Amino acid sequence: MNRPLHLIAALVLCSTALQAGQADDDQEELPDTPNSAPGFTPPAESELPDGPFGEMVRYGRDLFVNTQQLRGRFVGNGLNCVNCHIDAGRRADSAPLWAAYTMYPAYRSKNDRVNTLTDRIQGCFRYSMNGAPPPSGSRELSALLSYHYWLARGAPVGVALAGRGYPKLDTPPSAPDIGRGRQVFEAQCAFCHGDDGQGRKAEGAYAFPPLWGRDSYNWGAGMHRINTAAAFIHANMPLGRPESLSVQQAWDVATFINSRERPQDPRHEGDLQETDAAYHAHQCHYGDELDGQLLGSRAHPNPLQ
Ligand code: HEC
Ligand code: HEC
Repeated sequence: MNRPLHLIAALVLCSTALQAGQADDDQEELPDTPNSAPGFTPPAESELPDGPFGEMVRYGRDLFVNTQQLRGRFVGNGLNCVNCHIDAGRRADSAPLWAAYTMYPAYRSKNDRVNTLTDRIQGCFRYSMNGAPPPSGSRELSALLSYHYWLARGAPVGVALAGRGYPKLDTPPSAPDIGRGRQVFEAQCAFCHGDDGQGRKAEGAYAFPPLWGRDSYNWGAGMHRINTAAAFIHANMPLGRPESLSVQQAWDVATFINSRERPQDPRHEGDLQETDAAYHAHQCHYGDELDGQLLGSRAHPNPLQ
């Protein structure tokens, strides 16, 4: 959008009417959960049942924590689902799967259609995993659905549960700043995610996931929104020290990591300004000018498209 980078972010309202028929979109924000929402504890791993259903749940869990086994087929980057849904999708305030399961299907005025849980899972494959979603009815999708279902066992259907999504973060005292964010990154994140943000590998697999670049989430993923990343980071990062960053630091570092190139938005058809106008009128840097380059103009291609 060519806005000066240091001014934007916090003030730009996410008001784009996402176009009708725009399928499997994972970048929508979730509705706020009421303060009175009941809590929920998912069943313990030791309660996993035996038999064919138990096997399917186990396979779903395995795909969720090691999604890289689907790389090249359904996954186009270096991430696993668990990287953003911490503790195998159990952790409250980390978009836990038990809180998601009971809230679909749901009508969203933003894209003017009823979204199913399958749509949401496929959206995370398309954007967060920079991939091509497994078809509805495939063994992979059935396994993932089974795992979501099992974690939600005993939860009330259609009732928003405390801990759903990422907790909404206050607006920062001053506008988020990329330069300050870089300092937070260097002091608090590079140790694990690498000096270049490209993650760290052990035995060929990422032990710490990349925050930008070819192997990270793409320009259409929910996490590329500065507000969503700030909320996730404040509640979950640095890993093991949640809520240790100030609100300002969380926004600053979120604006920094989301001002680096990453894989292209899969809805992009060649004209950056068109893609920006159609899908990016929210708090993000897509299409912004940084160091003489438009962000998105050097995005990495999707290897599965
Ligand atoms: C102690 C190591 C550690 C530190 C420090 C740390 N992270 Fe992480 N981070 C992780 C791990 C491990 C994951 C994946 C979690 C999982 O799979 O359970 C992760 C996941 C993430 C993700 C989602 C996945 C991705 O690659 O995009 C983001 C975003 C993130 N971290 C940002 C940050 C930021 C920003 C900081 C600094 C404020 C930070 N992290 C500090 C270890 C760390
Ligand atoms: C790069 C981070 C990231 C990765 C990797 C990721 N997701 Fe997500 N996921 C998100 C974000 C962001 C949201 C929206 C949460 C919000 O807006 O509060 C989300 C939402 C969801 C939801 C809906 C949650 C709800 O309460 O409605 C489900 C279900 C889901 N993801 C499943 C998956 C699955 C399955 C995978 C792996 C195939 C996956 N995610 C990989 C970031 C990620």
